[in-house]
Amino acid sequence: MLELYGGNIMSLLEVKDLRMYFPVGKKGFFSREKQFIYAVDGISFSLEKGETLGLVGESGCGKSTVVRALARLYTPTSGDVFLNGKNLSALNKRELLEARRTMQIVFQNPYASLNPRETVGDIIAEPLRIYKRRGLLTLSEEQIQSRVDKLMDMVGLLTYYKNRYPHEFSGGQRQRIGIARSLALSPQLVLADEPVSALDVSIQAQILNLFKDIQKEMGLSYLFIAHDLAVIEYISDRIAVMYLGKIVEISDFRDLYENPLHPYTKALLSSAPIPDPQIEATRKRIILSGDVPSPNIRQPGCYFYARCSYRLEKCKNHEPSLQGSPTHKTACFLCEQS
Ligand SMILES: Nc1ncnc2c1ncn2[C@@H]1O[C@H](COP(=O)(O)OP(=O)(O)O)[C@@H](O)[C@H]1O
Ligand SMILES: [Mg+2]
Repeated sequence: MLELYGGNIMSLLEVKDLRMYFPVGKKGFFSREKQFIYAVDGISFSLEKGETLGLVGESGCGKSTVVRALARLYTPTSGDVFLNGKNLSALNKRELLEARRTMQIVFQNPYASLNPRETVGDIIAEPLRIYKRRGLLTLSEEQIQSRVDKLMDMVGLLTYYKNRYPHEFSGGQRQRIGIARSLALSPQLVLADEPVSALDVSIQAQILNLFKDIQKEMGLSYLFIAHDLAVIEYISDRIAVMYLGKIVEISDFRDLYENPLHPYTKALLSSAPIPDPQIEATRKRIILSGDVPSPNIRQPGCYFYARCSYRLEKCKNHEPSLQGSPTHKTACFLCEQS
């Protein structure tokens, strides 16, 4: 039966066992079974008001698919997503559109996600106009324009540039336009899918600070995605580490950096640069051997088995579940033993 309300009504977002499988290949004469890419394979977490949860993992581990499935750009294969206690799969189209106001996306590539033929003013106003057309918002054109001015001001863009086109802006400025657009409907939650990955390192800090300032001002929550641990560390209250469609560790941010438990998290942290040369000289680097297994092959046991230097016999055929304290959980038999 469809669950209408989440267990924890207080959470802004609650995700329960979310799965997104993409069918691949043709169902041929000889292959009776359909093949799938298991892009997101049973993910659960919650996000509180005003909180930032960082989601980190290598390219291809399913981060963007999580974002798209949460925002219902994809219909998930299974699992429940509760937004302010409401189950999104129980809503009709109009109700979903209302709910989507609360949850907006900032995309990775500010070059590809802005329409090159629209002016900056029109791009930022677009969500307002869509909701107005559908009768979900009553705003005059004047009110829309003054809202656009306010949003531009908020993200540090001069309203003087309102009638210019995206190609006239730098990468960092374009991402500011993307951020302004995502804030147009006053959301409570922003799903930020690697919003600084495409930017120069010198610009990244400015945009990250902008995210922080806006959060304070609007009381926003973020699901903030990155493959770079330095970015995640700077912005997150809690961090979830993803590997092959699953969360392998989730923890308060300080605890994750000081006491990483999962062998994959340890390897990720050991390969991230540390600014202090003394620590840098003494620490042990863990080099991950082997390739990431293909996401279209379901293997028994722990998904990290092939690359893990601490693996136990048990890990080959048994899958560890996410366990631990309320503030630090990991999916690893080794951690259960100690
Ligand atoms: N629309 C799609 N159709 C088929 N496979 C997809 C689709 N989107 C993503 N994938 C696959 O799902 C896996 C996860 O992709 P993605 O979520 O983009 O990872 P990430 O954002 O962590 O780099 C990859 O193997 C990718 O090729
Ligand atoms: Mg991605």
